[in-house]
Amino acid sequence: MKILIVGGGGREHALAWKLARSPRAPQLFCAPGNAGIAELATCVDTAADNIPALLELVRKQQIDLVVVGPEAALAAGIVDEFTARGIRIFGPTREAAQIETSKAFCKNLFRKHNIPTAGYRVFDRLEDALRYAEKTPHPLVVKADGLAAGKGVTVCATPEESAAAIEAAMKDRVFGRAGERVVLEEFLTGEEASILAVTDGQTIAILESAQDHKRVNDGDQGPNTGGMGACSPASVFTEELASSVSREIFVPLVHAMKMENRPYRGILYAGLMLTRTGPKVLEVNARFGDPETQPLMVRLKTDLLDIVEATIDGKLSRVDLAWHPDPAVCVVAASGGYPGEFSRGHEIRGTEEAARVPGCQVFHSGTLRKGGSLLTAGGRVLSVTATGATMAAARDAAYRGMSCISFDGMHYRRDIGQRALARP
Ligand code: AMP
Ligand code: GLY
Repeated sequence: MKILIVGGGGREHALAWKLARSPRAPQLFCAPGNAGIAELATCVDTAADNIPALLELVRKQQIDLVVVGPEAALAAGIVDEFTARGIRIFGPTREAAQIETSKAFCKNLFRKHNIPTAGYRVFDRLEDALRYAEKTPHPLVVKADGLAAGKGVTVCATPEESAAAIEAAMKDRVFGRAGERVVLEEFLTGEEASILAVTDGQTIAILESAQDHKRVNDGDQGPNTGGMGACSPASVFTEELASSVSREIFVPLVHAMKMENRPYRGILYAGLMLTRTGPKVLEVNARFGDPETQPLMVRLKTDLLDIVEATIDGKLSRVDLAWHPDPAVCVVAASGGYPGEFSRGHEIRGTEEAARVPGCQVFHSGTLRKGGSLLTAGGRVLSVTATGATMAAARDAAYRGMSCISFDGMHYRRDIGQRALARP
């Protein structure tokens, strides 16, 4: 069987790594991939949202199955286009992916179907948004409606800050069309957790929990990033919470999508705030998270290929998801300056040594092989994911692995999984 993985980050490397371990030994392709993925798959230099080029690739290579990583491809309608041509593909349609690609659509859906979320208002006009922000208690959260590469959310302490964030989105268009409309949202406090589920539109299977670390610096300081590390399980997550998230969030969400004539198949990723009054959804993504996928894939026992095919075929009820009990910790190394401006092309050393540390996997994000050298090619460069008998052991192993790796400007957080340890 030939599988094409669409995307080229750490998430896709982890998906490729897991698919490569399928007993069915599929032949893997990846577009565009990266230097790490190239060790497992044939990488083709095609952008993840270039649908005509991807179609051509599928035809030429006679690909049997396509797995989509990033939201940009879903937003571009890859699932619609491929399904219409009889190509088997894992992910939601463009309309179903609006759960991620339009925050206003998502919030309105929550409201209509009583799914717990932060209070909010949607604005299409700058003046209305500014007026509302001025008379609303702060902190207030300003969100660009559309896809903004993880940068569209600003938590504002004062009305001045909200005014600046609203103007940046609606007037200065720093997120392009994604900021034409904004959502102004009540600020919630609590612990955050990412819960992912896979659904075929009928059956919903919740994956193990994971906790992202979004801020660039230790102690959750500094600006938001795509994610500087993750651990699984999330310390705050209990069986009880899993069943309440399933009952109050995933079941009504999948039902709501059916009612809206946008039946959902694929991954549902709920970013939750665990508030004193129960879990509330901050956002829903229509895909696997990055870096949450890295610890999840090393913990998943079930063949990912079985899960993917059962989801496409509407037979997810026949698959049991099994997990290794050992926790996993993923530490991301980023380029100097990330999440702001950064330079590329720095030589990366020590990945082989890191991979030899017991329990460690190195997953590449922004890397490139040129001649004999491995070079940096993105903001998030690579990650080390380790498992261990305890969270502390997993953490130690991940940091031991990371200590083998170096490149100019490299930085990573030293406290991934620490909060998980601080708790009994
Ligand atoms: P989002 O992309 O919507 O998940 O937002 C990115 C980050 O902003 C989240 O992980 C939270 O840390 C923060 N955030 C988003 N919405 C809220 C909210 N309503 N209250 C507090 N923090 C929020
Ligand atoms: N780690 C956050 C995300 O994938 O959206």
